[in-house]
Amino acid sequence: MAPSVAELKGEELPNPIAGLKSKLSYPFYYPYFDVNEKFPPTQLFEHIDAGVNADPAKPNLLTPNTTTRNISPYIGTEITGVQISQLGKEGLDELALFAAERKVLLFRDQDFKDIGPERQIAIARHFGPIQRHPTSGNVKGYPEFHVVYRDPEHDEFREYRGRDQVSGVSWHSDISYEKQPPSTTFFFILDQPGVGGDTLFLSQVEAYRRLSPEFQKRLEGLRAVHSAVYQAEFSERRGGPVRREPVETEHPLVRKHPVTGEKALYVNQGFTRRIVGFKKEESDLILNFLFDHIAKGADFQIRAVYAPGTVVVWDNRVTAHSATVDFENTILRHAVRLTPQAEVPIPA
Ligand code: SIN
Repeated sequence: MAPSVAELKGEELPNPIAGLKSKLSYPFYYPYFDVNEKFPPTQLFEHIDAGVNADPAKPNLLTPNTTTRNISPYIGTEITGVQISQLGKEGLDELALFAAERKVLLFRDQDFKDIGPERQIAIARHFGPIQRHPTSGNVKGYPEFHVVYRDPEHDEFREYRGRDQVSGVSWHSDISYEKQPPSTTFFFILDQPGVGGDTLFLSQVEAYRRLSPEFQKRLEGLRAVHSAVYQAEFSERRGGPVRREPVETEHPLVRKHPVTGEKALYVNQGFTRRIVGFKKEESDLILNFLFDHIAKGADFQIRAVYAPGTVVVWDNRVTAHSATVDFENTILRHAVRLTPQAEVPIPA
């Protein structure tokens, strides 16, 4: 996962009064954390995907005013001429279906960042209960927001990965350790570098399709452990919050999308630790091959480039992503994620 500023020590946070907060375009979303904030363990819930109800023609989303441009054949569509904030139930259902089909949608020129936290949360909640992150910076009074923040003094990504890494690229699928990991996820940018700070995405459906039928067969039926432990330990070491006891959850290595029926690899270097029933070397061999396979798949990856007003919506079940920290460390980047949870993964 992308760590957030919550993983920094409280006393190291920039002092808002002292200045940095006043430079933010949206200081309301300044990352907030309270080491005493605690959440109960996540409860299982029944989930019916919004996309199930959608009209496949998507008349409310893809109106005559809407323009779409596919970024790559397998993943990613840029959309202009429609406001997410104006969509009713039918439009949001269609958005869920379209995100499942195209994996990532880049909505341009949105008013989403200006509609206020209640409406933002209500829209995201259409897709499922919103995860309250156990360690990341949230917004005071609104634990549904996951704040991604970097300023000249706080380089959260590098801290999380370790400063001696040759690359800051870190493929992951958000909070995959949850029993019911997320689906239609919203990410909106508030302050961004002039150039850089893009998000990389890949299609786990296409990554799976590239494997030989024999290898696919071997993977189907396997389960892997996804762990929140490292994230929690990292936060604890830095004096940050651990709002919920870290969980370790088994998920199928290949999952089926509840609406499209597509099969997707469900492993990511961020959280997947071992294959159940395999010895360590066997598990490492297969997982490292799969991590390498998806990381190298430039022909099923895209780069989401932000502009003011961009909202990116992705289906976490069939994608992995990574931030790129390719901009000078004097530059501020500030974004917010809303992460609705979905079904218990369906084995392929
Ligand atoms: C995330 O991993 O959720 C955020 C990606 C980014 O910061 O570009």
